[in-house]
Amino acid sequence: MMTVGSALLLLPLLTGVRAAAVLPSNGYASSKIEVVRNPVYPLDVVDKFAEATMPKIEAYMAKKIAAGKNNKCTLETAAVRREWSDMSEAQRQEYTGAINCLLKLPPKSDKKKFPGALNRYDDFVAFHMTHAMQLHDNLNLFGAHKYYVWLFEKALREECGYTGYQPVWKSQPMSPGTVADNLQQYMNYDRYADDPWNSPLLNGNASSLGGNGVLEPTYKGVAQPGRTPNIIASGGGGGCVKAGPFSDMVVSLGPTSMSTGTNLPKNPRSDGTGSNPRCLRRDVNKNAFMGARADRAFHLLNNSKDMDTFYNELLGTPPPKNDPYPWGIHTAGHYVAAVDPGGDPFTSPGDPLFYFHHTSLDRLWWIWQMQDPTNRLHALPLVDTNMTMPMKRAVDPNKATVNMEWLGPVIKLSETHDQLGGNGGAFCYIYV
Ligand SMILES: *[C@@H]1O[C@H](CO)[C@@H](O)[C@H](O)[C@H]1NC(C)=O
Ligand SMILES: *[C@@H]1O[C@H](CO)[C@@H](O)[C@H](O)[C@H]1NC(C)=O
Ligand SMILES: *[C@@H]1O[C@H](CO)[C@@H](O)[C@H](O)[C@H]1NC(C)=O
Repeated sequence: MMTVGSALLLLPLLTGVRAAAVLPSNGYASSKIEVVRNPVYPLDVVDKFAEATMPKIEAYMAKKIAAGKNNKCTLETAAVRREWSDMSEAQRQEYTGAINCLLKLPPKSDKKKFPGALNRYDDFVAFHMTHAMQLHDNLNLFGAHKYYVWLFEKALREECGYTGYQPVWKSQPMSPGTVADNLQQYMNYDRYADDPWNSPLLNGNASSLGGNGVLEPTYKGVAQPGRTPNIIASGGGGGCVKAGPFSDMVVSLGPTSMSTGTNLPKNPRSDGTGSNPRCLRRDVNKNAFMGARADRAFHLLNNSKDMDTFYNELLGTPPPKNDPYPWGIHTAGHYVAAVDPGGDPFTSPGDPLFYFHHTSLDRLWWIWQMQDPTNRLHALPLVDTNMTMPMKRAVDPNKATVNMEWLGPVIKLSETHDQLGGNGGAFCYIYV
C-alpha cells in the first residue's frame, strides 16, 4: 500500500513521465481523438473509469454506424470537450473572451418580459429563471440541461467566433495527486482540496474563470435543511469578484426570492426580471468542493445500478449520514463558488461557472449511460425521491419534448439522451 509520503514522492516522477510520454497511451488510443493531459493532474479514479469505458463506447458506435443510425456522427468527427486545466492558457482566454463577447451582444429575448436581460448572455439566464421548474424535473434535469449547455456553446461559437467547445471541470480539478484507490490517497486529496483559491479555475488570474469574491461578513453560506451539517459554511467570500476576466461583469437579472446572497440590491420587479445592474458575487468554497470529489463521483458511477439510484445519489437523497459534506454532487457543484447570481437556483447560469458544473454532470451521466447503453441510454428517474425537485410522471417520456423557446428549436426529449448522434446528429461530442 502506498503511503502519503511515497505518493508525494511519486507525484513528480509521474508528472515527468506523463509530460514526456507520447499521448495517448490510454483508452482513447484506438481512435483518432486527441488527448491532452495537464501533467499537474494525474488521472483521477473517474478519469480512469472513463478511459476504461472507451471500448464500450466504440462498440456502441460501431453498432449504430452499422445500423445507419449515427446521423453522420463518429468518434473521429466528434467535438471534444476538455477539462479547463487541460486547455492551454490561450484556449482558456479564448473561452472567457467569447463569454465577454456574448455579454456585449444585444439580447434576443422579449424586452417587455425581460427588461433585465441586457445582452445575449442574459437570454440564457432569462430562460433558466423562468423555466427552472421544468428544467429541474426528473425528465429534464439531464437532457434539457444537455441541450441548454449545447445551445450556449453554439452561441459562443457562432456569434462570438469561439473555436473550441464548452470546457468542463472534473470532480476535483484542483487536487493534484488524487488517485482514490486507498485511504492514504484520499487524504492526499483532501490536503490539496484545501486550496481551491489557488486553482487554475478560480485563482483570479487572466486565464482563470475569475477569482473569489471579497469578504462579505453577512454571508454565512448556503442553508441545507434536512442535512447534517445543515449549512455549506462560507469559504470567506460572498462579495464582489475583483480579479480575472469577469471582474467587470454586469449582472442584471435577479435576485429572486431563492437567492442565497446577502446585501444585494433589490430587483425592481418582484420576479427578478427587471434591470438590476450589479457585480458578480462569489464565495470560493472548499466545503462545497469536497462534496463533489472524484471518489464520490466514482461511487455514483460504479454503484448505481439503475437511474433512480443514480439520480438520488447525485441529489444527495437520502442525505448520507456521518458525512461532513453530505450535499450530493449536484448541490455541491453548484456552490463551489456561487453567491449571486450563481447561488440562486433561478438565475444560476448568470455565473459562467454554471456551465462548467452542468457540463460536468453531463459527463458523469454519459459515462454512466455508456456502461450499458442498451439499458441506460434512455433511462429516466421515475421513483419519488423526496427531494424538492419536481416529479413529472403523467407525461409519456416517449412523447416529451424540450422547448427552449427563444434559445433554440423544440426537440424530442429522447434526442437529448444521445450526445453521439442525437438531435439529428447536431449533438456529436465526447469528454476527454
Ligand atoms: C494562472 O494560473 C495558472 C494556475 O496556477 C498558471 O498555470 C498560469 O500560468 C497562470 N497564468 C497567468 C496568465 O498568470
Ligand atoms: C465497482 O463495482 C464492482 C461491481 O459491483 C465492484 O466489484 C467493485 O468493487 C467496485 N469498485 C470499487 C473500487 O468500489
Ligand atoms: C421518502 O420518504 C419516505 C417517508 O419518509 C421514506 O420511507 C422513503 O424511504 C424516502 N425515500 C427516499 C428515496 O429517500
